[in-house]
Amino acid sequence: MATGHEKVEKNLGIMLVLVVLFISVGGLVQIVPLFFQDSLTEPVAGLKPYSALRLAGRDIYIREGCNTCHSQMIRPFRAETERYGHYSVAGEFVYDRPFLWGSKRTGPDLHRVGGRYSDEWHRVHMINPRDVVPESIMPGYPWLADTVLDGTDIEAKMVGLRKLGVPYSNDEIDAAPDALKGKTELEALITYLQGLGIELQAAR
Ligand code: HEC
Repeated sequence: MATGHEKVEKNLGIMLVLVVLFISVGGLVQIVPLFFQDSLTEPVAGLKPYSALRLAGRDIYIREGCNTCHSQMIRPFRAETERYGHYSVAGEFVYDRPFLWGSKRTGPDLHRVGGRYSDEWHRVHMINPRDVVPESIMPGYPWLADTVLDGTDIEAKMVGLRKLGVPYSNDEIDAAPDALKGKTELEALITYLQGLGIELQAAR
């Protein structure tokens, strides 16, 4: 007589239904609790939504594809924490849309680069990396220094992000175009870099 197990093994339909059921239940048990765990959904102490200028800088970072060579995710291994600082935690990324974690490191991880160098160092490095790091293979981005930010869509971006849960006030959104006025793309990018990962830097 065929056992229950044999029946399942020989009947593709039942097998399929049971496999889907098992994977779904297993998946839900792992995934659903994450939505209710404060350490994963609450911002870390001191984390603020990106200012208008940093947000514009972040968009330059994405436009220029910096994330194809740089990750923003320090893993909890000694070799990484000694080089970069405190490992990255979920609460640091609650205002990131989209995430820029990445996994390709042609250059170093940038998650805690904020405050590591002066603005002037970044300016020289971004225009021609070899001026400060002679062996660097990073491309230069000299045009960023001569290009004035196009701030026409900054309010729409902030309104969009607010719909996704970023707590921008009306005043912050109204003041955004003025905050970008006359600023170059390079200034925005450096402001973005200088704020990266600073909330947990004291905990290094
Ligand atoms: C082709 C790969 C590549 C791209 C694209 C790239 N970088 Fe780099 N980056 C590197 C390498 C390699 C280094 C290490 C050498 C150096 O410091 O120049 C580096 C270093 C850096 C550093 C110094 C990090 C540290 O801790 O010393 C910063 C900041 C940086 N890059 C920012 C950027 C930004 C911003 C962009 C986009 C505008 C960018 N990079 C695009 C490869 C890249």
